Amino acid sequence: MSFEREPESEMIMQDADSVSGFTDAGDLRGPLSPIYHFGCHVLSRMIPENGLVVDIGCGPAQFLTRLLQYRPDLTAIGTDLSDRMLANARKLASDRDVVSRIQFVQADFSQVDVAIRRDVDAVICMSALHHCPDFDCLVSALSAIGRLSQRKSGAIWLFDLVRPDSRELCELIPRTHEVAARERLPESFKQDWQNSLLAGWTVNEFQEGLRHADLTLRSVSANYSQLHWSGSLSAGDLKLVNNTVFGSTGDDRAARLASSLGFDFPEVPKISSSK
Ligand SMILES: C[S@@+](CC[C@H](N)C(=O)[O-])C[C@H]1O[C@@H](n2cnc3c(N)ncnc32)[C@H](O)[C@@H]1O
Repeated sequence: MSFEREPESEMIMQDADSVSGFTDAGDLRGPLSPIYHFGCHVLSRMIPENGLVVDIGCGPAQFLTRLLQYRPDLTAIGTDLSDRMLANARKLASDRDVVSRIQFVQADFSQVDVAIRRDVDAVICMSALHHCPDFDCLVSALSAIGRLSQRKSGAIWLFDLVRPDSRELCELIPRTHEVAARERLPESFKQDWQNSLLAGWTVNEFQEGLRHADLTLRSVSANYSQLHWSGSLSAGDLKLVNNTVFGSTGDDRAARLASSLGFDFPEVPKISSSK
């Protein structure tokens, strides 16, 4: 049993400090990096050659642009409602030289199937659905994701944090990360992380949302994260661009998540460029 969820004070992320703190946290050496590596690793097995992937609530597109770096055959559409996030996303796409393969669309979660008229091979949504102010919003978002993916029977990949059992844990989890990773988190990001945990859905609530949206997905949860997906996790080999090497970040979150999916994933990949 968890405590009653406390929705985020702002649904979309527009505050300058919070947008820049979140963008930096997704950088190659940032605290979100292992999660993104894990996502790239698994999604790369799910998305077919030359596939089109849509990222709902893409934020600064740290994840999406990284996926495109790993998979030079893919094209992508990122959606978000926040101007500031989309401005950072466009800059990152240009810095990472993937601008010709990515498009950004300003759209609400619940309207993505209207805003995007194309058939897509995968719909992903990472760490965004806890921004829904209430359960109806969650169901609308999941329904739109379902409608978009069903046009072509595309894969679905939903990743989010889990609201812990107590409020105290919401404060402790970011602090514990600082100790374990021996890094000081910027205050704005630490506060955002804590607010996100308070606003998170429990696995049961999320699954209830999936049922209301008529979506049948497989689910796992580990390490205060939850994953819900459809599609084969072993459709193909992991495909990586030539300049990708493997190495350890000293953070085993990606490995723990991977083992919850039955993957042997001892190390996370690094991209050898500075971005
Ligand atoms: C915590 S960020 C996650 C960004 C990205 N998916 C990632 O994992 O790096 C959540 C994003 O969802 C966006 N968002 C929140 N509510 C939204 C809505 N109703 N429609 C579209 N985007 C929304 C916010 O603006 C923010 O950029």
